[in-house]
Amino acid sequence: MQVGLIQRYLGNKSSISNEIVSAVRSVASPGDLIVDAFSGSLAVSTSLRNAGFEVACNDVNHFSWLYANAFFSGTQAYAPNGLALPAAQRQELWYSLSEELTAPYTTSFPKGARRTDIFDHYCEAGKHSAFLSIRGTSGRRRFFSAENAEKIDRALSKIRFWYRSGKYDLRTRCILTAMLLSAVEKISNTQGTYHDFPRDFIDSRALKPIDITVPPEELFQGIKSRFIGEERDSLEFIPTVPEHKVLYLDPPYNFRQYTSYYFMLNLLSSYAGIEDLDKFFSRIEFVRGQNMDTDFKSSFCSKSSFVPSLKRLIQGSKTEYVILSYFDGRNHWGQFKSAEGDRTGREILEDFFRSELFDQNSLTFTPVLRTNYQSYGGHKAKKIQEYLFMARKSSIVAATANDEDMRWTGTVSTLGRKL
Ligand SMILES: C[S@@+](CC[C@H](N)C(=O)[O-])C[C@H]1O[C@@H](n2cnc3c(N)ncnc32)[C@H](O)[C@@H]1O
Repeated sequence: MQVGLIQRYLGNKSSISNEIVSAVRSVASPGDLIVDAFSGSLAVSTSLRNAGFEVACNDVNHFSWLYANAFFSGTQAYAPNGLALPAAQRQELWYSLSEELTAPYTTSFPKGARRTDIFDHYCEAGKHSAFLSIRGTSGRRRFFSAENAEKIDRALSKIRFWYRSGKYDLRTRCILTAMLLSAVEKISNTQGTYHDFPRDFIDSRALKPIDITVPPEELFQGIKSRFIGEERDSLEFIPTVPEHKVLYLDPPYNFRQYTSYYFMLNLLSSYAGIEDLDKFFSRIEFVRGQNMDTDFKSSFCSKSSFVPSLKRLIQGSKTEYVILSYFDGRNHWGQFKSAEGDRTGREILEDFFRSELFDQNSLTFTPVLRTNYQSYGGHKAKKIQEYLFMARKSSIVAATANDEDMRWTGTVSTLGRKL
């Protein structure tokens, strides 16, 4: 677990980040530029940074940019507005700001800046929280308790006002918002994602009071990231990154669109930057209450466009090596039959890595076991199989490799056949 980051995230690789860093280390040296093109919770980016690499990262989720901008856009701990302060004073300042975020408004805080959007739309007592589902069921949204929603509103209103009035800079806004988001995920009435909320019970976590904590200073330390994408499609982000040693890829392998599943974190993350909040909230839809302008349909979420997109991404990058994570998860497109027959996602990827895009002598394939993060409270921890594909990107078209030439780090029984 990496303190200070989002923890409850589908496909979060924190439990195997050591193995991923080892794979990167086998071909790269500290100081090298490594791209994390589906950075999500930043679990892998953070581990790579801790190992001395420069990280370039991007994800379609806005909050991934927010955390990276908060923690990776410098080399060491940051005081509000970049003030040069000794460690004790710096931490004291963050601590008092973390307290101030949810505290009642002081009389000097402008009345016009005191908003109630989260209470109004996402908690049961809110005046705009009613929903009507496509199936005709109705109810009220209840992502948060009334007390927590009020506190989240105060925190958002203050961050927004402080940032927009010039009191605090962009990085300070990002750090404060990251602190808020990390606290929010711990008291959200969800089963992990914000696609929906339990209709007939309240998750016990949501009844606890929100507690905003100051992130550890280690999170700020490392090589400054020069390339941090802001909710971009990685197909567009990748051509903007100069030559790099490794392109690490952890794309989604299922039909779930992450911008829907994590819309709430993205909403809180971008709140200070939304020009017209009334207009924004007048257009929220569905049971969950998402403004669909913030949705993004990824071409990596469908079986037919996955491989063409992967190919385009790798072709568009100036990388030497590609490392790709793959796992056989639930709702996985690789489990469904298609025009190509019923080949699994893993078999499709094996063929892909055999293509002329890669230097065949450099191919490795490593199985890694990990525990599914969803094993919470009563649910059994489930061991699932992860795989790491690694290969050097070919500079010439070389399609003549034969199986015996390929390095193999897995066991034949886990793969079924050699790559
Ligand atoms: C399996 S998750 C990555 C998890 C991440 N490695 C971690 O440890 O948290 C896949 C990620 O791909 C992102 N994504 C999906 N399509 C994308 C696209 N076209 N461009 C950029 N990011 C995309 C999703 O938002 C999601 O965060």
